[in-house]
Amino acid sequence: MPRAQPAIGHLGRWGRQPLPLLEEGAGLGPVFGLRLWRRTIVGYSPGWNRFVLGDLDLFRSRGSMSGLSPHLAAGIVQTDAPEHRQRRAQLNPSFARRPIAALQPRIVEIVDRALPDGAFDAVSWSASVTQQILSATFFGDTLPAPMLAAFLRPLDRALPVPLLRRPVLFRRMDRALARALPAAPEDCLAAAFRNLPGGLDEVRVAVSAGYDTTAHTMAWLLYHLAAQPALADADQRPNVVNEVLRLYPAGWLGSRRAARDTGFGDIAIPRGTLVLYSPYLTHRDRQLWPRPHEFRPRRFAEPLAAWGFLPFAAGERTCLGSAYARLVLETVLAAFAGSRLSVVSADPAPKAGITLAPVGPLILRRDPGSRRG
Ligand code: HEM
Repeated sequence: MPRAQPAIGHLGRWGRQPLPLLEEGAGLGPVFGLRLWRRTIVGYSPGWNRFVLGDLDLFRSRGSMSGLSPHLAAGIVQTDAPEHRQRRAQLNPSFARRPIAALQPRIVEIVDRALPDGAFDAVSWSASVTQQILSATFFGDTLPAPMLAAFLRPLDRALPVPLLRRPVLFRRMDRALARALPAAPEDCLAAAFRNLPGGLDEVRVAVSAGYDTTAHTMAWLLYHLAAQPALADADQRPNVVNEVLRLYPAGWLGSRRAARDTGFGDIAIPRGTLVLYSPYLTHRDRQLWPRPHEFRPRRFAEPLAAWGFLPFAAGERTCLGSAYARLVLETVLAAFAGSRLSVVSADPAPKAGITLAPVGPLILRRDPGSRRG
């Protein structure tokens, strides 16, 4: 177990700086314990990832850490087996690659219109562009932009702000969603939710889950593009997005509760244990990724270890929005191709909140007038 304080165990370090705590634990072995508010076990090997993510009956989401965030404490995120499978079957078709690809022209238009001239902060630019894309693709802009911005704002703040309950804000958002869902055009994602029982909760959760995750990844993507302009070459784009998702997995930590007594190798896992998997640790494991701290997209030309790359988790609970997020990120990369982009001043180190975020700011410069190549 990593170094702990007698009375509070690891809670203090967890609250202040969870990444060094996780890294210290990872140095002790592939599975290690933590003393948080309940008994906790963390692992990061591919075998552990398969164990935790492959059995939805044994490892439950309700009662895990995601319920601590009001933005995520509803809908599919809090639905467990067997209902989970049915709900995913209802949502998956609208989020599959092909229907998502149909949204591209709207995304291109938004990104092209937003291309900055001169110096800009990639963190706030990405946040704003992601909100505009969510608004257009989900609701055909029938949800008032200030409402969406106010609803998502807590997710941009440092902990514990995103964990505070906001019943008034949520009631306002739900009223706005109740008006926007029926008004949105048929070719928007809203159509997937409006006739679904509990669809209002589902769409609120989907937009929340898709916001800071996508925005933070986009900010890092632009930072690396500014440092290495060749990254925008068309044949490299999927690998570049993968390498950003590897080094900075917005979902740096996932959690489950054990529904009954179980074990992994010789480690006993009693019922009720909080069981964590960490894409952050898996993606920086030397055994899986040679020179893991280097930004090297070409590593994705090689075959990957099964359950060793999981920016969108894996198994039946794989991120609903993975095709959407990839489309947005690749579209942004393409839009900046041919632009002269450089780093002005930046701190790209990751810091862990509900999602992983750059310490920032990431001040970049796009030379005025430089356009798509
Ligand atoms: C780069 C962007 C994104 C990353 C890195 C990401 C990552 C993840 C991860 C790791 C999970 C699994 C969490 C867990 O159960 O342990 C997840 C679930 C989920 N994501 Fe994403 N996500 C991204 C974008 C999106 C977008 C754009 C949407 C919506 C359009 C979305 C909607 C969801 C939903 C609804 C779930 C819950 C799925 C379920 O429990 O069945 N995500 N995401």
